[in-house]
Amino acid sequence: MSEPAQGNAPSNDLGQAAVAVRDVWMTYSSPEGADIRVLEQVNIDVQQGEFICIVGPSGCGKTTLLNIIGGFQAATRGEVLVSCKQVHGPDPRRIFIFQEGSVFPWLTVRENVGFGLSNQARTERERTVQHYIEMVGLSGFEAAYPRELSGGMRQRVEIARALAADPEVIYMDEPFGALDFFTRLKMRTDLLRIWKQHRKTVLFVTHEIDEAIQLADRVVVLSRRPATVQLVVAVDLPRPRDPDSAEYLQMRLRILDAIGVSLRTGLVSEDAAG
Ligand SMILES: Nc1ncnc2c1ncn2[C@@H]1O[C@H](COP(=O)(O)OP(=O)(O)OP(=O)(O)O)[C@@H](O)[C@H]1O
Ligand SMILES: [Mg+2]
Repeated sequence: MSEPAQGNAPSNDLGQAAVAVRDVWMTYSSPEGADIRVLEQVNIDVQQGEFICIVGPSGCGKTTLLNIIGGFQAATRGEVLVSCKQVHGPDPRRIFIFQEGSVFPWLTVRENVGFGLSNQARTERERTVQHYIEMVGLSGFEAAYPRELSGGMRQRVEIARALAADPEVIYMDEPFGALDFFTRLKMRTDLLRIWKQHRKTVLFVTHEIDEAIQLADRVVVLSRRPATVQLVVAVDLPRPRDPDSAEYLQMRLRILDAIGVSLRTGLVSEDAAG
């Protein structure tokens, strides 16, 4: 059910991983010139089509790690390989979905979803755009602007835009963080349905342990800063997952324990303070 932390042990299986994080370290400098050690010795292997969730205490370095994996910032040390090629910068084959949302407010739903498809012929582009708009349940809103949509609908536009670009990997940094509880539940279900159809490789950062257990094939648990991989939990339960099942509850406790949170006392241990 769960594996020991793989954080300090890079796999030798270099050919298999869709995304391989190899011995990544990251240190920032504070304005006073002091070192802020954020990531140390992070190793993660993600298989093709796998849904990985990354959880960890607030401020431990999740966004930093995702930015490094996505090529938006350089690590102090180590490397990231996507399909066995070293990542040197962002790439349209890898799409990011941010918590704040990044749909273009001046473009309609249709234009947002078609944004990355300028290389396609017009009729093909229109067909692709319509297909993904329908898939995320936004038919009828093609001509709407983001300001005319709810938060959940805007995140659907993001997901449609990401899928329409047919990326190899989708990175999601707390994409549902700004949504209310019920919309979040619905978005999880929708995301899983879409992921099952497309089997894209997904790296999904979340604060919510239940969200991670509901979505992931494997949950990667980061320690407090400087973060390393503390635990990797393979969630080998059929979806949709029953949050009352013994296996589910046991996984939840293991993850909370690794992060240093006690459900009984509500206390965050010293070790978990980000
Ligand atoms: N550009 C930067 N310069 C200096 N320090 C930074 C920079 N970006 C992040 N940090 C620091 O690195 C640490 C990790 O930040 P990061 O945003 O990666 O954490 P996180 O796990 O995503 O947090 P949260 O759970 O709040 O989203 C924090 O202490 C933050 O202050
Ligand atoms: Mg973050």
